[in-house]
Amino acid sequence: MDLIKTKGEIEIMREGGHILALILSDARNYAGPGMSTKDIDKYVGRLCLKHRVKPAFYGYQGYEANICTSINDEIVHGIPSSKKILKKGDLLSLDFGVLHKGFNTDAAITFGIGEIGKTKQKLIEAAEKSFFKGVKKVKAGARLGDVSYEIQKYIESKGFSVIRSLAGHGIGREIHEAPTITNFGKKGTGLILKEGMTLAIEPMLAEKKHDIKLDADGWTYRTVDGGMSSHFEHTIAVTKNGYEILTN
Ligand code: MF3
Ligand code: CO
Repeated sequence: MDLIKTKGEIEIMREGGHILALILSDARNYAGPGMSTKDIDKYVGRLCLKHRVKPAFYGYQGYEANICTSINDEIVHGIPSSKKILKKGDLLSLDFGVLHKGFNTDAAITFGIGEIGKTKQKLIEAAEKSFFKGVKKVKAGARLGDVSYEIQKYIESKGFSVIRSLAGHGIGREIHEAPTITNFGKKGTGLILKEGMTLAIEPMLAEKKHDIKLDADGWTYRTVDGGMSSHFEHTIAVTKNGYEILTN
């Protein structure tokens, strides 16, 4: 798998990533108390048809939904269900991928359903800000460990913990390509970034301990101690002097 994408390939990912961002933002506005996560999934399915893109996660290792919907202590890969009803005060993350002209893009947001408490608000902010702290280190010649280090430092400075056993990844023709991008690490270590690499950087954090467990459904990861969790993700391209967010 070639980690370096051509200008033309990145242009396709920019196009797909833009559509992804529109759909994710519509889904966020649509989500509200009383609705099931399956309702959101169906809505996203309709938007994919409208924009003529494929939901990238559908069929991935047998996954049977358009989007991942993870509530409160669920970290990632929550499966939409008509039995999961959103209520005021819930913390919801939506993780969504688009397949467009043979290339994938991947992004995630976390937000509150109605008004949420202070800790949940802080978790949302920490996920977003840690992403931007990390991505600021991205440019040709930088090392992946510099990115991971900044993400970890920010999350821990807010008193939260970094999920260890889930990570970001390279992305392109496949959803998950090399390299693995952990949200913890050491400065000056790891892969040297090159112009044209496309990466999904995705901090996942927990309010309390970072230990995770997998539900009986085989997909949903949640915290062991029941602490709340947040997630934020963009697909980016490495440029000569920095980065470009493709899922904007
Ligand atoms: N965005 C997810 C990740 O990077 C991909 C989810 S695939 C699915 O891990 F099948 F779980 F939806
Ligand atoms: Co991802």
